[in-house]
Amino acid sequence: MTSERVEELLGAMSAADKAGQLIQYFYFKLPAVELADPASGIDDSQPHAVEAALARGAVGSLLFVTDPAEINRLQRLTVEGNPHGLPALFGYDVIHGLRTIFPVPIAMAASWDLDAIERGQAVAGREARAVGIHWTFAPMVDIARDPRWGRIVEGAGEDPYLGAAVAAAQVRGFQSGGVIAGPKHFAGYGAALGGRDYDEANIAEYELWNTYFPPFRAAVEAGAGNIMTAYMDLNGIPASGSHWLLTKVLRETWGFDGFVVSDANAVKSLEIHGFAAAPADAAARAVLAGVDLEMAVAEPAYAHLPDAPEAAAAVDASVRRLLAAKERLGLLEDPYVDEDRAREILADPQHREAARAAARGSAVLLRNEGDRLPLDAAALGSIAVLGPLADSQRDTLGPWVFDFDLDETVTVLDGIRNAVGDGVRVDYARGIGVGRRAFPSIFDMFGRNAPEDPEGFDPAAEFDRAVSVAAAADVAVVVLGEWQNMIGEAASRSSLDLPGRQLELLQAVVATGTPTVLLVMNGRPLDLRWPAEHVPAILEIWYPGTQGGNAVADLLFGAASPGGKLPFSWPRTVGQIPIHYSHTTSHQPENQDRRYWDEASTPLFPFGHGLSYGRFEYSDLTVSPAGDSVRIAVTVTNGGSREAPEVVQLYLHQRHGSASRPVRELKGFQRLVLAPGASERVTFTVGPQERRYWHAAVRDWVLDATTFDVWVGGSSDASLTTTFDVA
Ligand code: BGC
Repeated sequence: MTSERVEELLGAMSAADKAGQLIQYFYFKLPAVELADPASGIDDSQPHAVEAALARGAVGSLLFVTDPAEINRLQRLTVEGNPHGLPALFGYDVIHGLRTIFPVPIAMAASWDLDAIERGQAVAGREARAVGIHWTFAPMVDIARDPRWGRIVEGAGEDPYLGAAVAAAQVRGFQSGGVIAGPKHFAGYGAALGGRDYDEANIAEYELWNTYFPPFRAAVEAGAGNIMTAYMDLNGIPASGSHWLLTKVLRETWGFDGFVVSDANAVKSLEIHGFAAAPADAAARAVLAGVDLEMAVAEPAYAHLPDAPEAAAAVDASVRRLLAAKERLGLLEDPYVDEDRAREILADPQHREAARAAARGSAVLLRNEGDRLPLDAAALGSIAVLGPLADSQRDTLGPWVFDFDLDETVTVLDGIRNAVGDGVRVDYARGIGVGRRAFPSIFDMFGRNAPEDPEGFDPAAEFDRAVSVAAAADVAVVVLGEWQNMIGEAASRSSLDLPGRQLELLQAVVATGTPTVLLVMNGRPLDLRWPAEHVPAILEIWYPGTQGGNAVADLLFGAASPGGKLPFSWPRTVGQIPIHYSHTTSHQPENQDRRYWDEASTPLFPFGHGLSYGRFEYSDLTVSPAGDSVRIAVTVTNGGSREAPEVVQLYLHQRHGSASRPVRELKGFQRLVLAPGASERVTFTVGPQERRYWHAAVRDWVLDATTFDVWVGGSSDASLTTTFDVA
């Protein structure tokens, strides 16, 4: 339902006015244009061309502007240039924070803490809205089962149930902060062949419904105002031109009533795909498929829409959706932003506190042999902090951030120094040089990447120095992983090795005999086979954000306990991919872990794995009927001596039925914090929603009469089990 005002506006608009509303331009300012790759279509005429289009009234939306004064200036040009005085919608990639940077999305998902996730994106939304951004191109809700794909860092991992819960929490958070959320990329982008970014995805229909669609559906149900299309071909049809995806599934099946935006230049690339004959054909077919707004760097295809009478009704419907969004945001009344208020909100100390709590909650304790962690600062004379990521502010923030404040970013080294005070000597050595990607990423255009090695850096001497620093210390904290420009968009890898000489450094440090703690800073699983055997304490800290170092120190010294759980199965080696836990079984299931002769077929760490400073025990698993559902209850006890969080996970397996079903599937989780010795009875309800699945032959959802196995515990390897029957 649109308002009378929207209908009146629509009635007064020419075909060209309407096309203008459906065009979104990037607006690139220096240094982006200076450093631009000519192939990107961005050159120094780009901002001038966009301003000319604003003056002609031929723009409905802009992206990539974050300075409130600049937003006001461009908004004024838009309103004055538009024959109906219509303002622009300003969009931006606010992925894990605008000024206050939270841990990367895969890290937030690892907290399994839906309140923290919602709070984090509410902060991001509040900061974004304060500077004049109306809409974020987030959350990315693509299921990712191939960690070679660089964009795994932007999502919630491999599992549709966790992914759906995290997607909905993010949508609620962003929108409560005042911006429209735009879940992306619809759909199947995470299944790019070989993990190669932008490559085709071929996904059986039953996998789409059971695995790839649920986070999108959950995001739509949570009220997302926008959806972004995906770049690649899905089963041979470009996702950005797929009527089935954008209209049949999204609008007709799920009732989505927001607007759809193409990914950048994805309408024009319908021609590159060999789908559309020319830009005009691409425009007509995209709008008829269900793409309301075209995101373009230059020369938008939608400028041709007035020449496509067959698309006129679709164009009207799209314009209505865009106008309705502007009306709901209040932009038809007042499209400008208060620059003073923006400065105040960006400086809010509560935002930093929330980021610190989020970083604490997202770390995953992968290994802690002999309770090596937490460290007792009072008993230590000296700490060696080693590795090039240990004191890199830019890397601590991770990829997909542009508006951070480096000066306020707390590295691991800073955090440790803040926590231990003057009583403990902290020595730092980077050990190896700054690793570099072999070729620059498109995001290097923004000129804010990992720092260079210091002047006169001598790699061999520095390596030796790091080892001596380790040898002389009471404990060595080694921070290894991937530099932030090695992951993200256009940053896929063919290997999961620790880049550069990092493993060598770790091995040399361990060989000194100094007790060693490994902190892993990354956004995808890396090959940790050696550390998993030789380093007693391994803490996955991800790219932890603005307050990352302080949060890590909170965990290292026991002010808080880790409680995160892996949102993906951690492979031993790249050759095991894909290795998600929810596979079906087949011939000789007793040999399931011998599917390869040269490597185990189990992961290094299972999905849902994560230790804590507590000791959790599960007991008394019961099932009782409750209408068409069952109630499953379990007692969780912290038998350890420290308060700690635990994520209680429920897995189901359908024993028999009209299709083979995965060996285990997550169907419930609850995060709790238990004091030493405390117990809690945790209850889950499992009903038709949890039991149903999409059937390849029926081509619809089915429910079988069968027996279900149930497991409850602290990871997908949970052993406490029971069953229930369904008639
Ligand atoms: C990415 C999107 C992003 C857009 C705008 C594209 O290349 O795929 O996820 O929102 O750029 O920055």
